[in-house]
Amino acid sequence: MKIQFKKYWRKTSLKDKEDAIFLLSHINELKPKNILEIGVFHGVTSRNICELLYNIHGNNFKFTGIDLFEINTKNIEDEIPPKTTFSNPLKTFYYSYIAKEDPYSYESVLKLLKKFKSNINIIKGNSNKILQEIKIEVFDYVFLDGGHKYETVKNDLNNLTKVIKNYGVILCDDYNLNYAPGVKKAIDEYVLNNNFELKILRSRFAEIKMKIK
Ligand SMILES: C[S@@+](CC[C@H](N)C(=O)[O-])C[C@H]1O[C@@H](n2cnc3c(N)ncnc32)[C@H](O)[C@@H]1O
Repeated sequence: MKIQFKKYWRKTSLKDKEDAIFLLSHINELKPKNILEIGVFHGVTSRNICELLYNIHGNNFKFTGIDLFEINTKNIEDEIPPKTTFSNPLKTFYYSYIAKEDPYSYESVLKLLKKFKSNINIIKGNSNKILQEIKIEVFDYVFLDGGHKYETVKNDLNNLTKVIKNYGVILCDDYNLNYAPGVKKAIDEYVLNNNFELKILRSRFAEIKMKIK
């Protein structure tokens, strides 16, 4: 199967195609059936993951996505808000006057994922809170790409420990961001405190799993 990453005329943090293909290949290798993405943004990676899981498992997969879907981060001090403006004026025009929708909205992401409506669960809210309200043990793969503040990443990871203990995998993005050093700090501490295995892949991804003795 040839792995492709499409952008659907939206924004994604996986701008480098090779990083995006790496993520999809990693998922393709592990073949998880129940994926959680924290930080959905415009839904581009979510849609690509769903297309891939459909190719692997047919309809026998689940995808959960969590995002604040709002820039007003007054409840989350010091958080780095996502850049939602397009550099391409044609895209700005298209979303403002033709599609008349905000691609960084719950409704717009649901529309992008409607092909997989029986497989998906998109949740609007703060991952630190949502992860305490949903069943974590069902997930066998997590793509952690939500809040980039030390406390946020630390809490998300602590809330996701059951995934690792059940021999699932957490792949964290942005391990190497100079402007968000809290991501690396939270990951390094979490792995050390729990004696989990950490592998840095393509310098930006941190793969966390159980140590095999
Ligand atoms: C880097 S973007 C995600 C990019 C996306 N994964 C992709 O591949 O295109 C980070 C997203 O996390 C969301 N976010 C930040 N803090 C969050 C939190 N505490 N809970 C849920 N979502 C959060 C932001 O709203 C933003 O949409």
